[in-house]
Amino acid sequence: MTADPGTAGLDAVLGDILAAARASTDRGRVADYIPELAGVDPGQFGLSVALADGSQHSVGDADVPFSIQSVSKVFALAIALGRLGDRLWARVGREPSGLAFNSILQLEHEQGIPRNPFINAGAIVVTDAALAGHAPREYLGELLRFIRAAAEDDDIHINDAVARSETETGHRNFALAHYMRAHGNLDNPPELTLGAYFHQCAVEMTCAQLARAGRFLMGAPGMPRLVSADRVRRINALMLTCGHYDGSGDFAFRVGLPGKSGVGGGILVIAPGRASVAVWSPGLNAQGNSKLGTEAVEMLARRMGWSVF
Ligand code: DON
Repeated sequence: MTADPGTAGLDAVLGDILAAARASTDRGRVADYIPELAGVDPGQFGLSVALADGSQHSVGDADVPFSIQSVSKVFALAIALGRLGDRLWARVGREPSGLAFNSILQLEHEQGIPRNPFINAGAIVVTDAALAGHAPREYLGELLRFIRAAAEDDDIHINDAVARSETETGHRNFALAHYMRAHGNLDNPPELTLGAYFHQCAVEMTCAQLARAGRFLMGAPGMPRLVSADRVRRINALMLTCGHYDGSGDFAFRVGLPGKSGVGGGILVIAPGRASVAVWSPGLNAQGNSKLGTEAVEMLARRMGWSVF
């Protein structure tokens, strides 16, 4: 297919981004609070762009699987909204928190209702709601089916060692879950909901797979239609305002696109109507978001003129 004028030159831009990433001397710090992730080589960098014309353009380590971690919260939210509809918003808010992704501070003042579905507390509530009386295994099966359908690729799996590793060390998440259970905002026992949540975070994907999986959020003709157009708009709005935690304002300022990061170093970025982008570099900035990944999509959005503003 011929690229439209807005995407001509994309391959040259991707080449420049890869060169800049390879030359970078400050790659951030790999997350080590999940021991299984601490040993990931910080020298890796991958980027993949799925365009509205159906073509896909990738550079670097775009075929190396990584732990998607909090990027999974986007798929979980789509599933929970499918199950509960707007009733979900009685249990989780839609405002940026301005605090770290794993903070417990606001829960005490705000009756155990997390600020948004992308901070850990909010994502735990979303998973709890998505379980909706089903066993974790059934929910995880549905999550994988959703992601595989979105990516049109069945070779996407959960890394049990990563899930186990986080189960053993995830004391903050246990604290958040117990605190919300005490406020009546968790339907299931904390260990059950967190079992599902840790496995959800341990899904592994390549940049190429993740970029394809994000196409349902592009709002472009011919893309997989897994949720309504209304929901696509709302999920993108939440990604823009809350997808990078206390770094969300800075990401919007620099990139100007909805994005969702994970501590594995991945970021899913949507250029509405144009592209679904996945970038991965394991080293993180102070807010727990990929350092080179952010720099890469900042350059991509600027050079391609893709900012929504
Ligand atoms: O719950 C956690 O702490 C991790 N499983 C996911 C956190 C995460 O990815 C934050 N993102 N940048």
